[in-house]
Formats: sequence, C-alpha cells, structure tokens
Amino acid sequence: MSKKIAILTSGGDAPGMNAAVRAVVRKALHYGFEVVGVRNGYRGLYNKDFVSLDRKSVAEIINRGGTFLGSSRFEELLDESVQIEIANYLKNIDIDALITIGGDGTYKGANALAKHGVPVIGIPGTIDNDIASSAFTIGFDTAVNTVVEAIDKLRDTSDSHERCSIVEVMGRRCGDIAIHAAMAVGAEYVVTSDEGLNMDHLIKSILLARSHNKRHAIVIVTEHICDVRELAKSVEDLTEYESRATILGYIQRGGVPSAQDRYLATMLGAFAIDLVLENKKNVTIGFDGLRPYTTPIEEAVTMKKSSMEYAKSIVYAIR
Ligand code: F6P
Repeated sequence: MSKKIAILTSGGDAPGMNAAVRAVVRKALHYGFEVVGVRNGYRGLYNKDFVSLDRKSVAEIINRGGTFLGSSRFEELLDESVQIEIANYLKNIDIDALITIGGDGTYKGANALAKHGVPVIGIPGTIDNDIASSAFTIGFDTAVNTVVEAIDKLRDTSDSHERCSIVEVMGRRCGDIAIHAAMAVGAEYVVTSDEGLNMDHLIKSILLARSHNKRHAIVIVTEHICDVRELAKSVEDLTEYESRATILGYIQRGGVPSAQDRYLATMLGAFAIDLVLENKKNVTIGFDGLRPYTTPIEEAVTMKKSSMEYAKSIVYAIR
C-alpha cells in the first residue's frame, strides 16, 4: 500500500543532513511512496510550507553541507495548541510518517507531536553528538574533521611563536567534539562541561608541556564553560606562556560532509523507510557502528549520554 511521508530537518544544521534526505526520498520512491519535504523545520510544518520531493529534487546533494530543506529553531512548538494544530493538519492530509532529522530539541518536538497522534521517526543529525540513543550523529564526524584541520593550522603559528592556543569548540553541553579533536591533535588539555574548568589541573598540564621543552601547547574548551579570552590571559599570567584564544564558531557546522557522515546519513535514512514499511512509529534511529536500531522516542528524550572519561584519560596519558 502506498504511503505518504513528510520529512524535515530542524535545529542546528549538520553536514550529511542532505544525504539523509536523499536516502529517505530515493528509498521511499523505490517502494512507490510519496514524499513531501517540509521547508525550514517545525516552523515550516506549522506554516504548511511543503515541497514535493522526487528523484531529481535530491540529485547532486549528497556532497553538500547544510540542509537544502532549510532549518529553524521554532520555540512556539512548546505550545500545546501549536502541537495540536500541526497534528490535526498532518492527520487531514494523511501523513503516514513524519521523519525528523535533528538533535535534542528536534526529538523533543517530535515526541510532543507523537503524543498528539503524529507517527514520528527521529534521525539523529547534529554536530554535537549529544544524542544518547545513538553512538554517532550525522554531522559529528565532519565537524571533528573541521576542528582538527583548524587546530593543525593553529599549531603551526603557536609553535612558531612559542604560544599556548586555547581553542573553543561547539558541542552545547556535550564534550564529544572537544575530546575527539583533543585525541586527534594530541592536545595538552581538554575542558568539558561534565567536569568543568579545573584551573590547577590545566596549569599543571601546560607546565608539563613546558618541562618537555614543547614550543606550543593546545587546550580545547567546550563552549559555554568560560570566557576563553579571559582564560588565555590567566594562562599567560600563571605559566609565562604567551597565550591566544580562538573561537572556531559556526565554521564547525558547515562544509562538505565526510565519507563517514554520508555513510551514516544514507544508512539511517534508508532504514527509516524500512520502519515505515513495517508500520513502526514513534521511535528514534541509532547507530552502534555496525547497524541501525530503534529506541522508543519517549525513552530517547530522557536518556543520558555515557561519560567520555576513558577517552579523556587517554588524552592526558599520551600528551
Ligand atoms: O546544535 C548545534 C549547535 O551548533 C551547538 O553546537 C551550538 O551550541 C548551537 O547549535 C548554536 O545554535 P544557533 O545556531 O541557534 O546559534
């Protein structure tokens, strides 16, 4: 029986979202389903801003960063009357599944709609990797690669000038970008929100680098923990290492998706259609490195991510 699927991308855009939409559309068409794209996330859903998606509309996007459907943060979705209005409309136009690609906030929105009878399927798409129901989220790998490339450049100049580089990365409250990048660049120290800023520990790490006659030191800090410019001043005062702060900012969200993110996006997008075929609803899709699996969305929104302490200990053991 033919089915009608709506798909949207929401929250912070992430490289690979386009590849996921492409996989959803192509596999859905393979089964003769109809797919409507929703422009600009939940805002577009509320405003009924739809576009019909065919094979051609998802051509040449597998390698494009951002999201061609557009995205938004739509706080109004917290309002139950807005949720009910959307749910009624989707029922009227006979939507069999609403596929939402995004992070934490997107899942919460989808869960609220599910409570009003919308059949939802969540795909994890955010650079932050802060979704506990999946080991990896679409966009995370590309963002880490962007961070590593930027820090490799910072290392050149830090080394030339014998400086300490304090680098702020994104992640909201999740330290995964910081920790993965720290391991990949051989950083001296990494600050994440589960532990917070331990100034003594940080200064000792930088002095340790000094004692090894290193000409530079790299410290990676997850956003929203401290003012990295102030931190650079304190480090300079306490270590006599000239220090500079760099906030990488939104460049971390853009760029050509890595092969890993395209693989993940394609796998999860295609799997979403298997779920539609099986009439499975109100679940999120996760990936454990080998295969996709589902978690009830109600559970997924309350799950806590497991700690990255072991990975962090490796950063300190091998610097
Ligand atoms: O969710 C991804 C993310 O880039 C976070 O890392 C960051 O804190 C946030 O989005 C920034 O959001 P906005 O685009 O609303 O400024």
